[in-house]
Amino acid sequence: MQKVSILANDRVFVLTGAGVSAESGIQTFRDSDGLWAGYRIEDVCTPDAWEASPARVWDFYSARREAAFKAEPNPGHFALAELEQWLGERFFLCTQNVDDLHERAGSERLVHMHGELAMARCEDDCGQPPVSDRTIYKSLTAVGRCSCGARMRPHIVFFGEMPLEMGKIQREIDRSTLMMVIGTSGSVYPAANFVRWARQKGARTVYIGPEAPQNAESFSEIVLGKAGQVLPGLFQVEG
Ligand code: OAD
Repeated sequence: MQKVSILANDRVFVLTGAGVSAESGIQTFRDSDGLWAGYRIEDVCTPDAWEASPARVWDFYSARREAAFKAEPNPGHFALAELEQWLGERFFLCTQNVDDLHERAGSERLVHMHGELAMARCEDDCGQPPVSDRTIYKSLTAVGRCSCGARMRPHIVFFGEMPLEMGKIQREIDRSTLMMVIGTSGSVYPAANFVRWARQKGARTVYIGPEAPQNAESFSEIVLGKAGQVLPGLFQVEG
């Protein structure tokens, strides 16, 4: 069985995508049975979509909430939480996923660069922080208002918006010596560029997933397989 060695002085940066939650029953986006086969991004996940129909956008994200809240973490999520236990502050996890399965598996040092399903925020970015919101909305009239009066929107980064926590992510990439990318097609930027940034700094770069991603040429190693099957037992922590 293939192993990824983690050396005593390694700092590990992990980027995950929808594939890591696939075995938990959450649809990916670009696989043949993925979400973008049934919806158009420009109808549900852009600032213009929100402007045109907040009801349609909330419908879409309410359905995503329903699916994510009943899902459970799979062995892939648990393997990453265990790796963090071993490495402590030498580990950093950046997920593009908006579900909370990494946290529910025990991960702590993580950022959600594309937002979080279980939160909402002011549509006008008035300065109030995002708030917890787990409601499955059946109609727009049930959606609350910010204290400034604007409507609350999903705490999701729409296409065309700046991902969250980019300063922290950049710092963590700059000091990583091993980047592992798991279950992402490598087609959405800037996340698809992280491997190049890490490689330019001299890091080893490993991809894990059932098929090679679009940016496969940037990886020094590709481990083919499903995250939930491959991740447990993959890491050999030395030192
Ligand atoms: P994609 O749907 O583009 O890619 C999912 C990847 O997961 C594919 O490369 C699959 O081969 C792989 N995969 C499928 N099953 C897997 C398994 N069991 N284990 C490991 N990998 C598996 O999803 P992302 O790359 O995450 O953004 O998409 C990136 C962003 O595009 C998302 O965060 C979302 C989306 O539109 C926003 O909504 C802003």
